[in-house]
Amino acid sequence: MPPKTKARESIVEKETTLDQSSVTVGTALQVNDSVAIDCDSSGPTPITKLDKSCGVGTADIKKLQEAGFCTVESIAFAPRKTLLAVKGISDAKADKLAAEAAKLVPMGFTTATEYHQKRSEIIQLTTGSRELDKQLQGGFETGSITELYGEYRCGKSQLCHQVAVTCQLPIDMGGGEGKAIYIDTEGSFRPERLLAIAERYGLSGHDVLDNIAYARAYNTDHQIQLLYMATAMMCESRYAVLIVDSSTSLFRTDYSGRGELANRQMQLAKFMRMLLRITDEV
Ligand SMILES: Nc1ncnc2c1ncn2[C@@H]1O[C@H](COP(=O)(O)OP(=O)(O)OP(=O)(O)O)[C@@H](O)[C@H]1O
Ligand SMILES: [Mg+2]
Repeated sequence: MPPKTKARESIVEKETTLDQSSVTVGTALQVNDSVAIDCDSSGPTPITKLDKSCGVGTADIKKLQEAGFCTVESIAFAPRKTLLAVKGISDAKADKLAAEAAKLVPMGFTTATEYHQKRSEIIQLTTGSRELDKQLQGGFETGSITELYGEYRCGKSQLCHQVAVTCQLPIDMGGGEGKAIYIDTEGSFRPERLLAIAERYGLSGHDVLDNIAYARAYNTDHQIQLLYMATAMMCESRYAVLIVDSSTSLFRTDYSGRGELANRQMQLAKFMRMLLRITDEV
């Protein structure tokens, strides 16, 4: 993945395939829509990099992929017991996997200078509203989760549609020169809204729609599964933003009543942690 600060061919001018977030506001319970944004200098490493040369067999890689591990980072950052929970992964294999992944993913100390350099690559994606951008000191920040919450029909989904388009703009226009992933849990995704936004920015509606990967999530397990798939897609192409509209609604319906509250919070926390991990991985 090219450094995000380096000017890339503008997708506005050329029909090129572009080579992923987080917008977090408020506390987890109040969250309605999350937009995950990441535009780091290097993308996640596909799990296939752990091959026979590292002593990891194809069959094991397949098992890990089926369990949702699509990147070397997901192996490196996973607790040992999570790897052991994958069918067919023994103690010895889990140790081997962790050791090999640690060789490819920096896990130790770094200098503050290096970390400062990494932080300087963070950019802001415009929300499309000058006033809101001002409040957010530039817009939605890459490499983090932003949660949008607000009362019924206040424009949360509109903002999600907006950033799915503005993330495609050149960096000097407040964009991220990347594609968008949109996970829709309420059926509120409307390509017509995207076309109208594209028109405002003078972008080709066709290209804008082509640069947005859309999936409808039908239950909480599916929502989590789609996140795994999104991570795999981020290895292949440059995504500037990952949008989940809404991140909490399926959890409210799949887990109802006080009896299921603890379980609901646990699963929701798992989902949020996965989102956070994506911002670290990419
Ligand atoms: N900036 C805007 N300009 C014009 N219309 C807007 C704008 N933002 C929102 N709307 C309109 O307001 C209505 C509600 O917006 P939206 O669906 O984004 O709200 P929401 O907060 O996601 O609602 P819900 O809580 O039901 O999910 C829609 O009909 C939308 O077209
Ligand atoms: Mg909505």
